[in-house]
Order: sequence, then C-alpha cells, then structure tokens
Amino acid sequence: RSAEQVRIVEVGPRDGLQNEKKAIELETKIEFIKRLAQTGLRTIEAGSFVSPKWVPQMANSSDILEHILQQPPQAPEPINYQFLLPNSYGLGNFLKVYKHYGDSAQPAADTGYPTPPPSPSPSDNGPALNTSSQDANAMPSATDPTAAMSQPVNSSPSSSSSSSSTLPEIELSIFTAATETFTQKNINCSIAESLERFKPIFGAGKEYRLRVRAYISVALGCPFEGPDVDPHQVADLAVSLLEMGAHEISVADTTGMGTAPKTQELLKTLKAAGVDAGDLALHFHDTYGMALVNTVVGLDHGVRTFDASVAGLGGCPYSPGATGNVGSEDMVHLCHSLGLKTGVDIEKLSRVGDWIAGEVGKANESRAGKATIAR
Ligand code: HMG
Ligand code: MG
Repeated sequence: RSAEQVRIVEVGPRDGLQNEKKAIELETKIEFIKRLAQTGLRTIEAGSFVSPKWVPQMANSSDILEHILQQPPQAPEPINYQFLLPNSYGLGNFLKVYKHYGDSAQPAADTGYPTPPPSPSPSDNGPALNTSSQDANAMPSATDPTAAMSQPVNSSPSSSSSSSSTLPEIELSIFTAATETFTQKNINCSIAESLERFKPIFGAGKEYRLRVRAYISVALGCPFEGPDVDPHQVADLAVSLLEMGAHEISVADTTGMGTAPKTQELLKTLKAAGVDAGDLALHFHDTYGMALVNTVVGLDHGVRTFDASVAGLGGCPYSPGATGNVGSEDMVHLCHSLGLKTGVDIEKLSRVGDWIAGEVGKANESRAGKATIAR
C-alpha cells in the first residue's frame, strides 16, 4: 500500500450494532452491508460468533455469513468481510457455514501463510487486498480441530460449487485485552487463557487460508483498572499475537480515554518492541472527542489502517459508559483533507450512515456525515 492510501475498516455492522438493545432485523443488517459495499469500502466487519447470551444482537451472524457467501453484495472493488471469534465454539459455528461454501476449492498448501496479496488494480486507490481466498477455500480435512462440531448447513452440492468461484475474502478477528479485569468481564477468561483459546483459530486460519486479525482492547484506558494502561503490556501482547500468526493488530481505545501524548507513547513503545506501523490498525472510540486527534498521531507514526463506524455507532457492551466508534465519514473526511486516498465515496457513505442511524433509532453522530448530506 502506498503511503498515500489509507484503509478504513468499517466496523458498523459488528461494533456499531452489537450494543443495541432492540433486536435489529436480519434483513436490515444485510441491507446495511449491501449499502456499505457500494461506497468503495474494502473491509467490512460483518458480525461476530460470540455467545448469544452475552451479546444477543449478534445472534444471527451465521445467517449474515451465509448470505455474504451465497450472494456476495455487489461492490465496485473486492471486499474483505471480517467476523469476530472468541473461541473454538465460535469457530465451529463459523466453519459450519464457511466450509459448506468453501468446499470445492483447493486445500491450503503447506508452503506458507499468508499468501502474498495480488497487485492492486490500476484503478484502485484503496489498499492492496488479499483476494486469494477466492481460490483458496479449503476442503474440510481430517485434521480440522473443530470437525466434530461442523455440519453442512445445506446439503445441496450445486449451491456451493456455483458460488465458490466468486467467494469474497473472509477474515477472522480474535479479541483480547491489555488488562486482566477487562478480559474477564468481556470474554470470561484471563489474558493467557485467551491466547490459548485462539490457537485453534490460528490453526483454522492456516488450514483455510483465512487471515486472522487480532484486537487488543483497552490499550489506552480501562473502565475497571483506570486510564494508565501499561503500553509495554500492549506491546508484549502485540508481539505474541503476531508470532502466533496474526496479520494485523488492531489496537483499540475501547473507552476513548486515549489522548495524543498517550497514543504517541504507545506507538513508540510498539515500535521499540519491533511492531511495525504496517502491522497495526487503530480502533478509536470517540467517547471524549479525541479520536481524530489520535488518528493524526497514528498517521504521523505511519499507521495506514483505521477502524471506524458509520454515523459513529457502536460501543462494547462490557465497557460501561463506552460510546460509539469514530464516525467513518469523519475518518474519510480527515484523510481526504490531508490528501490521503481511501477509495471511499463520502457522499454515498454519509447516506448509508444516516439511513442506518434512522433504522436503529439513534442520532447520526458523524459531523462530516451530517454536513455532507446537508450540502
Ligand atoms: P463463557 O460463558 O465463559 O463460555 O463465555 P463457556 O465456554 O463457559 O460456555 C458457556 C456456554 O456458552 C456453553 O453453552 C457454550 O456452548 C456457549 P451451554 O452449555 O451453557 O448451553 N458458548 C458459545 N455460544 C455461542 N458462541 C460462542 C460460545 N462460546 C461458548 N462463541 C464467551 C465465553 C467468550 C463465549 C463469552 O464471554 C462471550 O461471548 N463474550 C463476547 C463478548 C463480546 O462479544 N464483546 C463485544 C465484542 S469485543 C469489542 O467490542 C471490543 C472491540 O470492538 C475492540 C475495542 O473497541 O476494544 C473488538
Ligand atoms: Mg470497539
């Protein structure tokens, strides 16, 4: 990716919606993803395979995955869809669907992972994306750690073979945190246990050639342990997750407690620990209005991937008082104002943000989104 290109990871369908108390219709979620796909975004986090007892809103993520695989939303550029997985149970539920649609492709070769991304097309001003899963979705194998849990969702062979050649790229997102208390509250285990739980997910990633992204929550402040989270703890975790096979670490300011100096210190500590800016994404919640300031600090340090949610929707159910992610429209506006390319049409994106905010009955929190629509 050239230095002038920024990749926006749209987390609206997952982080944006997960905290909504009122159940949102499956059709609305699918329509949301379809509309986002039209805007020039290249990465969309579409759902999460967590416990429906813990996060009821995400309960129909299997249906969303199935829909994406069965009828990939029309998009100007190939899209990478991410799904959150906390453990092997979630992985099993994911594979029940994924294996069915990937079952006519080649097994992953032993020769390495990830496969190198193809060159971006000349017309592309977005990031270089690995679309290799279009030909690399593996047959279920006898070594699959979750094989016992996996049953095809649809036994019709024709539907899988007809869609396999156009499968969009799917990516797995795992998530842990920089403090023990938040990890316990969010995923009911210690940080060390969370890493153990990720091992089968990395194994499946290797087997199915699915990239694995890793989130580190509360990296700039914890709702339970306070604002001063040790940046070395974040760096150590990032190094461990990269060594385990993560292709990208999304460093998350879950609480919005991050400030410019803290963000700078964290990025310097990550660099000193050997974590390259190219291995990082930044995930800012905008609770204190600092997200764009911290984004500029990230850009200055060479980070070129940022998570955001249209209309500023979002929040973690296990972070009391946490509000939405930084608005994607604001992120796009900031990047364009700095001469950076995102590939995103801000007018289309702003209309999607305003529409989904209306659908969920929330105010549109994106200032650039509202201003763009009013123009
Ligand atoms: P647990 O209760 O400790 O799980 O939950 P368990 O292994 O003891 O199993 C208990 C029951 O849950 C069993 O069912 C399991 O089968 C079931 P039962 O026998 O009682 O009928 N179970 C599951 N069901 C569906 N999917 C699963 C699953 N796992 C077990 N994956 C667990 C542990 C991790 C599941 C739970 O704590 C959980 O789901 N937590 C998710 C919390 C969450 O989604 N938080 C929000 C996302 S993270 C976030 O927003 C932060 C981020 O945006 C970055 C940032 O801003 O910081 C990414
Ligand atoms: Mg978040």
